[in-house]
Amino acid sequence: MSLRRIYTEGAEVLKKVSHPVTNFDRRLHILLDDMRETLKHADGVGLAAPQVGILRRIVIVSDENQKILELINPEIVSREGEQTAFEGCLSVPGRYGMVKRPMTVQVKAYNRNGVLYTATGTGITARAFCHEIDHLNGVLFTNYTDQLYTPDEVNKILGEDGKE
Ligand code: NI
Repeated sequence: MSLRRIYTEGAEVLKKVSHPVTNFDRRLHILLDDMRETLKHADGVGLAAPQVGILRRIVIVSDENQKILELINPEIVSREGEQTAFEGCLSVPGRYGMVKRPMTVQVKAYNRNGVLYTATGTGITARAFCHEIDHLNGVLFTNYTDQLYTPDEVNKILGEDGKE
């Protein structure tokens, strides 16, 4: 396994639409293993293949139990409710924005062996599913908000909320 470089905002690869995966082969498995290591190293919640420069429809998401879900050619099949919270991205380091997302999202995707499955995410996992699938369509969370905050500003805002 090896760490992959994470591209940051401004890189052309982050603005493009990724292509479906057609071969569930060893090359895919190596990429997924590298993405897992890269996500863990960066201490993130999710990572999409275009973030490491690969225009393929592949994302990984760490769920509430820190279990890594591998989603290949993922599609959102249902959305329920809504939540608004601070969101960040490994490709937009040090900046956060408030983004509205569904509270619960159901996705269908293939696993690394080409088997179709369904996963349901709530809260931060639902947010991560939406955020990572957006990457496959060249969309960053900064497309939804112009108001970006530093980590210090986020802590201050959340801290003030906590005192109410
Ligand atoms: Ni991201």
